Amino acid sequence: MSVTVRVPAKVNVQLAVGAARPDGFHDLANVFLAVGLYDEITVTPSAGGPRITCSGPDAGEVPLDRTNLAARAALALAERYGRTPDVHLHIVKDIPVAGGMAGGSADGAGALVACDALWATGASREELLGICAELGSDVPFSLVGGAALGTGRGEKLTALEVGGTFHWVFATAGRGLSTPAVFREFDRLNEGVRIPEPVASQDLLDALAKGDADALAAAVSNDLQPAALSLFPELADTLAAGRAAGALTGLVSGSGPTTAFLARDAAAAARIARALMASGTCRSARVASSPAPGATVV
Ligand code: C5P
Repeated sequence: MSVTVRVPAKVNVQLAVGAARPDGFHDLANVFLAVGLYDEITVTPSAGGPRITCSGPDAGEVPLDRTNLAARAALALAERYGRTPDVHLHIVKDIPVAGGMAGGSADGAGALVACDALWATGASREELLGICAELGSDVPFSLVGGAALGTGRGEKLTALEVGGTFHWVFATAGRGLSTPAVFREFDRLNEGVRIPEPVASQDLLDALAKGDADALAAAVSNDLQPAALSLFPELADTLAAGRAAGALTGLVSGSGPTTAFLARDAAAAARIARALMASGTCRSARVASSPAPGATVV
C-alpha cells in the first residue's frame, strides 16, 4: 500500500518585501503562480521511519535527513494525529533544488497530503494548511496551487483568478542560493532606507485575471532581485540573454537563482529555451506553463 502525490513548482510574479519584522521574517505581498514542473512524493509504510530517498538529476543535492521538509511534514502530522511516523518517503525530484521555485516546500506539502491519505486522519483542509504554514512560508501555496496572493510572511493565502495560460521558460543556475542569505542581503542593501508596506499591484492582478501576457510582463516585479543579483552577479547575463531571445520579460524567481522568462506562446517559449541553452549563461532551460493544480494524489 502506497500513496503518490504530485506537487507543482511556483514562480512569484510579484514579490513585494516589507521591512524586517521583530521575528526576523519580512511581511510580503507575494503573488504566487503554480507552474507545470512537478515533484512526486510516494509514501509507503516502513518501520523506523521517516526515511527519505530521492531520485532525479539533482538528487545528490537533496538532504535526506530530518531537515528535509518531507520528513518534517510526516513527523508533524504523526504527532498531531497520534500516529507512528513509520514511513518511507521517496521523492522524484524534477523541480530545481535551492532554485527559488519552492521545490523543498513542494516536497513538504506532498508528503503531508500523502501521509494524510495513507493514515486516513480525517484532517480538514484548514488543519493541513495550518501544518503547512508551520513548516514554511511557501508550503501552504504548494498545497493549493493555481494562483494566490500570500500576505503575512507569505502563508496567508487568497486565491486569485487566472484567465488564460501563461508560457514560461526557467533557466537553472550552476549553484543554489540560500533564501535566508538573500533576505539578509535585502536587509543590507536597504539599510537606512524607509521600506513601504508591501501591497499587491492591481495592474498585475488584472493581467492575471485577463490572461494577458503583455500586461503581466509589464507588471511583474521582485524586490529580492537586486539582492539575488548582488550575491550572484552572473544572473544579469542570463536575464539579458533571455530578453535578447524575445522574452516578454525576465526576472529572478523568488529568492533565485532560477530566472523566469515569460513568452508570448508555447512556440516562442521553445525558441527562447533553445537560445538560453546556446547562450552558455545557464545550466539548463525548461519550458512550463501555468497555472498548475496544487498537491494532487495520483
Ligand atoms: O518560511 P521559510 O522557512 O521558508 O523561510 C526561510 C527563511 O527565509 C527565513 O528563515 C527567513 O530568513 C526568510 N524569510 C523572510 N521573510 C519571509 C519568508 C522567509 O525573511 N516572509
